Amino acid sequence: MMGQIFIPKTAGTLKESGTVTWQTPSNIALVKYWGKRNPQLPENTSISFTLSNCHTKTTLSYTKKQEVDNQFDFDVIFEGKNNKAFKPKIETFFKRVEAYVPFLKEYSFVIESKNSFPHSSGIASSASGMSAIALCLMSIEKEINPNLTEEEFYHKASFLARLGSGSACRSVKGEIVVWGEHPEVKGSSDLYGVEFKDTIAPVFKNYQDTILLVDKGEKQVSSTVGHDLMHGHPFAEQRFAQAQENISKIKTIFAKGAVDDFIALVESEALTLHAMMMTSSPYFILMKPNTLEVINKIWAYRKETGSKLCFTLDAGANVHVLYPESEKATVQQFIKQDLAVFCKNGEYIHDQVGMGANKLT
Ligand code: DP6
Repeated sequence: MMGQIFIPKTAGTLKESGTVTWQTPSNIALVKYWGKRNPQLPENTSISFTLSNCHTKTTLSYTKKQEVDNQFDFDVIFEGKNNKAFKPKIETFFKRVEAYVPFLKEYSFVIESKNSFPHSSGIASSASGMSAIALCLMSIEKEINPNLTEEEFYHKASFLARLGSGSACRSVKGEIVVWGEHPEVKGSSDLYGVEFKDTIAPVFKNYQDTILLVDKGEKQVSSTVGHDLMHGHPFAEQRFAQAQENISKIKTIFAKGAVDDFIALVESEALTLHAMMMTSSPYFILMKPNTLEVINKIWAYRKETGSKLCFTLDAGANVHVLYPESEKATVQQFIKQDLAVFCKNGEYIHDQVGMGANKLT
């Protein structure tokens, strides 16, 4: 069984009840995770910027059951309302992590959660949502086993988050996070995300990300279905190999502060992700006409002004506009004037690289 190191060795004494709150960020991948194998292991290494303003705040309340049964007992309150729709995903998550979190069936839980961004805006709410629950569970484990080191705590939190949603393991700790074993990234693992600790030039430490909400509907293709399309995909092997090479390249880019190379790599990654979807069976186009309008505007602006802004995409129509902090005023003006018209209700969210999750209680 992979992840055996995360099975607690001692039972410990459980508290009768308690509450814990974590605020956890969303993240945006620069080298994309697309394709996985059981149990939630990535086919290639990915790397992301942790965001700051887009986050989830989750409070987990726990009360010891009078009689322990064989059920998971939990309620979900999302944005102040009882929410049954999220329960199956959390139930699946609990099943996957049960072996590593032996107290799960001993407690009745209430999970209260809210996002700083609109739900179904296409911003990865599963990343911040799942990492928040994982960190809350780890805080309970830390009470039972105070000897857990900080490294053990965060590695296991990321490990659990990964079993909820792959990209969630990159929403735990650090400004830039790598998930997936890579020979050139020390400590990297398929089991959890690690903070990228190699040299990072100052320009990349406070990079800006404005998320243009081009299309706010529910996802056209769920990520599970999407990842599955990489099985038997005619270009899968080349794509996975390319991602590994791109991790080596981005390492040098971060060290040198090579913004032009960053632009070329990040835009190519975004378009490759979408090319994989367009060439799978069945095939999908997840960009909307306004996604292309925005991309063309970004390219024209870059050509005219010499700006270093660029874009990346998730598995949807929204566009993340990435740019150095030194261009914040001019790029945000350009977004307001020329790109906002392509957003649903003119909506966009300014964000920037953040530090990772915070415990609030
Ligand atoms: C396109 O992490 O949402 O955002 O593991 O099935 O929950 P599951 O998938 P998910 O996939 C995210 C894919 C992506 C690229 C990325 O974040 O690396």
